Amino acid sequence: MIRADFLPLARPHIGPDEIAAVTEVLNSGMLTTGPKTAEFEREFAKYLNADGGIYTVALNSCTSGLYLALLARGIGAGDEVIVPTWTFAASAHVVEWSGASPVLCDINEDTLNIDVQMAESLITKRTKAIMPVHIAGYPCDMDAIEALAKKFGLFVVEDAAHAAGTKYKGKKIGNFSDVTVFSFYATKNLAMGEGGLAASNDERLIEEIRKLSYFGINKEAFKRYEKRGTWFYDIESIGYKCNLDSIHAALGLVQLRKLDASNERRRAIAKAYQDGLSNRISLIAAAEAGKHFHTYHLFPILIPQSINRDTLIDALRDRNIGTSVHFRPLHMHSHYKGRFPAERFPAAERVFPRVLSLPMFPSMTDEDIAYVITNINELVGS
Ligand SMILES: Cc1ncc(COP(=O)(O)O)c(C=O)c1O
Repeated sequence: MIRADFLPLARPHIGPDEIAAVTEVLNSGMLTTGPKTAEFEREFAKYLNADGGIYTVALNSCTSGLYLALLARGIGAGDEVIVPTWTFAASAHVVEWSGASPVLCDINEDTLNIDVQMAESLITKRTKAIMPVHIAGYPCDMDAIEALAKKFGLFVVEDAAHAAGTKYKGKKIGNFSDVTVFSFYATKNLAMGEGGLAASNDERLIEEIRKLSYFGINKEAFKRYEKRGTWFYDIESIGYKCNLDSIHAALGLVQLRKLDASNERRRAIAKAYQDGLSNRISLIAAAEAGKHFHTYHLFPILIPQSINRDTLIDALRDRNIGTSVHFRPLHMHSHYKGRFPAERFPAAERVFPRVLSLPMFPSMTDEDIAYVITNINELVGS
């Protein structure tokens, strides 16, 4: 039986607490960046590492954070940054905005994360940075990336858009490289609508990103709205407008308190999928059990080669199941075609026609999960 309502790919987990927190800000008279933003920054830093040593700056998006991190490090024209081809536009666009060139790298087929061995083969005298992307919430091989960065003196900017709460060898992503940037976009594990945060153990780097995020004005900028602030500010350099306001920060504070519970629910949904899906489906990052803490922002699967993925998407839509494809590799897009020959990406080329993301969000019911499993198995065969 086809269900009556449409089961979407993702749905934010918003309840009365978020509504109350936002209402409080709306009534407070302080809508822009202020104490709520600072509280969110402090709480997220504590979430990443309760022992301290992590500095954070909240931003209007992950994209902004990735861009400003490159600028803060002085990366620009003439430089190269290694970026996986399997990612969203943001990861490579920020490199182009900075004036540097993205150098696309193939992936590991089992995890969809960057192939670090191949990344090493792409290093030239101009390579200044590498941007690992923790696809779907499964961590990249941070030991290998750290070793590579050390060997070649690379700046490591982690795109952790999918990885709020993800752990690598028991430690949360955000504790490893030079700088890690999270996304709080509407569908993410911690959802604000739009929002992001950069985290680092380097306080100076974070303060430089903060300055760049608000017109190059020193960090006292927002105090001018408070009784103890003054009207005076100094523009120390050219900057941008990427600050996070109090409305989003208040929403984020409530979402942060729920993050561990919603990640656990995502993991339970993943387990049900793993147990229930036909053997004809290949699972991504299936070896994760006990190794790392996967937070399943997405649940991508690989369907059998004999099945047309796009026909399957249509059939699932007809049965009121929403799916998507994460991602169409960057090298296949018009903007990058020609610059990067397909032969350089055998794994991405093999995996792309077979990949499909299934519905994954904490408020999915057990009936929702069973409905997806039954219909996939029926269409794919068991
Ligand atoms: C891998 C990846 N990086 C970066 C981003 C950009 O995040 P934001 O929308 O917060 O700028 C996304 C967004 O979906 C993403 O999937």
